Amino acid sequence: MNIVKSLFQSSIGRKYIMAVTGGLLFGFLVVHLAGNVQIFLGADRINSYAALLKSNLLVLWGFRLGLAAIALIHITTATGLTLENWAARPNRYAANTDPYASFSARTMVVSGVILFAFITYHLLHFTLGVTQPGIMHHVDHLGRHDVYRMMLEGFRNPWIAGTYLAAMIVLFFHLRHGLSSLFQSLGLKNQKFAKGIEYLAVITALLICVGNGAIALTILLRILK
Ligand code: HEM
Repeated sequence: MNIVKSLFQSSIGRKYIMAVTGGLLFGFLVVHLAGNVQIFLGADRINSYAALLKSNLLVLWGFRLGLAAIALIHITTATGLTLENWAARPNRYAANTDPYASFSARTMVVSGVILFAFITYHLLHFTLGVTQPGIMHHVDHLGRHDVYRMMLEGFRNPWIAGTYLAAMIVLFFHLRHGLSSLFQSLGLKNQKFAKGIEYLAVITALLICVGNGAIALTILLRILK
């Protein structure tokens, strides 16, 4: 108990928590993308994948609650670290203007807040069906939730597709810095591997964002029908 308490209280401990929770959230993004891109294999494939995910309610809700807890720890720890950084600076509450920090590093708080807003919208859109209720009720010829049609009707709207595409650009910058500082916080980034880790972070972030963006874009452009 004391170890957990001191982990949350020390700066290094909090960075460690950011790295571990960030890594887990990144893991979710990889799995989520691997599921989403099955839309390119046709309606049957993505609908059966979605049905499989929902087939065991205990596993589904265990996963959802676990993910929500990890996201909550990530966000509250980030808020604590940010407030600490601002308080330590002579020019209190000013933005991070370190000229040597990359654009991604300087905008982590802003990109994080935008992503939080995007995820809230995304859950209201595809999970809860609040923003576009009509798309939630389609069923396919096997009586399963027609996720394929749900995505088609969602992303055919240019405003919705545009929102997702804009969010993917923000996600790219957040992931790019997040992934490379993850290695740093876990003590895995040394002089020898620093450049390699930077490249790996950029390529991985690009793959996630282009992969997700491709779904919205190909539907918007009627390539996927
Ligand atoms: C074009 C890209 C994306 C598509 C097509 C997509 C699709 C979906 C769909 C269909 C669901 C509903 C699952 C369900 O309740 O049946 C979902 C849930 C979710 N998505 Fe996405 N997603 C995309 C990008 C993202 C991104 C970038 C994030 C995070 C930054 C994200 C985070 C989530 C979360 C947290 C859930 C809730 C998980 C759950 O309900 O169990 N998604 N997504």
